[in-house]
Amino acid sequence: MSNSKLQVTVRPVNIETDVDGIVRVVRDEDYLPWAKPESCLAVLTHTAARGFYQTVAIVDDIIAGFAVWNEDRENGEDFLYLSMMHVDMDLRSRGIGAAMIADGVRYAKSLGISVLRTMPEDERSLSFYLRNGFIITEHLDGFVCKAQAGNYAAKEINHPTFEMIDGLEFVFGLGQAAPQFMFGLSDLRVQQERGWPVKSFSFCEGLLQFRYDKDKTETAQMLYWSNLVPTEKTLAEILALGYTLGFEKLDFEFRRKFSELFIGRENLQPEDYKEGIVLEKAVGGL
Ligand SMILES: CC(C)(COP(=O)(O)OP(=O)(O)OC[C@H]1O[C@@H](n2cnc3c(N)ncnc32)[C@H](O)[C@@H]1OP(=O)(O)O)[C@@H](O)C(=O)NCCC(=O)NCCS
Repeated sequence: MSNSKLQVTVRPVNIETDVDGIVRVVRDEDYLPWAKPESCLAVLTHTAARGFYQTVAIVDDIIAGFAVWNEDRENGEDFLYLSMMHVDMDLRSRGIGAAMIADGVRYAKSLGISVLRTMPEDERSLSFYLRNGFIITEHLDGFVCKAQAGNYAAKEINHPTFEMIDGLEFVFGLGQAAPQFMFGLSDLRVQQERGWPVKSFSFCEGLLQFRYDKDKTETAQMLYWSNLVPTEKTLAEILALGYTLGFEKLDFEFRRKFSELFIGRENLQPEDYKEGIVLEKAVGGL
C-alpha cells in the first residue's frame, strides 16, 4: 500500500446514509458503540440531538474517518471538545486525522471559539495531537478503586430521567475533560427500548458510564458522576445497577482532588494510580 497523502474531504455525518461506513471505520475497536449498526445508529442519533458536531472524512467517495466534537465551557472558557476520532485502520498515517483536525479548527472559528481540547488515548495518539499543534495544558492525576460484588443487587435504583439530566453539571473522573461530554446518556429502560447492548456498553444517566474493559472482563468503569447527587447515594446506585447488569467488579476512577468523596466509602480503597493528559490547541485568527 502506498503511503502517499490522500485527497480528503470532511463533512457532517448524514445519519440516514453513513451508519455502515462508520461501523466499518470503527471495526478494530469492537467494544465501542459505533462498531455495531444498531448501537451506532442509536448513539449517532442521540448525540446529534444534543447538538454535537459529528463528521466523516471521505476518500474516493468512501467513509475513511469519523470524529465527534462538542462545544463546551469550563471555568468561563469556551472550547470545542474532541471526544472521538477514528481513522480506518488500513488508511492511517496518510493525513486523514490531520484533515479532521483542520475541519475542527474551521468549525471552531465559525462558532467564534478559540480553543480545541481533547484527551489522548495513548502515546501514539498523543504524538498525533502534538504534531497537529496541540500542547499539554494539564496533567490529571487520580486513583482507580475496585469494588467487589456485594449486597446491592436487591436495592432499588432510582434513575434520573433524560429531561433531568440536561443542564446538570458534572464532576469528572479521569476519562474525559469536557463537562458536557455525555454522548450516550441513557438509563437502563431507554437502552432496552432501543435495543442497546446493555452489557457491552451502557450508561446510567447522570451518574456513570459502564463499559467492558478492552480485555472483555466483567468490569465496568465509572467515568463521570453528577455532583448534585450525594456521594453515598451515587455509590450505592452505581453498585446496585452494576450488579443488576451482571458485572462482578466495578472500577472507579476519579481525580485525586475528589479522593475524600470516595476513599473509605462503600469499602473503596485505591488499588492503582492513573494519569490523564489534557491537550489544547489555539485556533487563532478569528
Ligand atoms: C490517531 C488517528 C486518529 C490519526 O489519524 P491518521 O489519519 O492516522 O493521522 P495522520 O495521517 O494525520 O497522522 C499520522 C500520525 O498519527 C500518529 N498515530 C497515532 N496513532 C496511530 C495509529 N494507530 N496508526 C498510525 N498512526 C498513528 C502517528 O504519529 C502518525 O505519524 P506517522 O505516520 O509518521 O507514524 C488514527 O491513527 C486512529 O484512528 N487511531 C486509532 C484510534 C485513536 O487512537 N484515536 C484517537 C483517540 S484519542
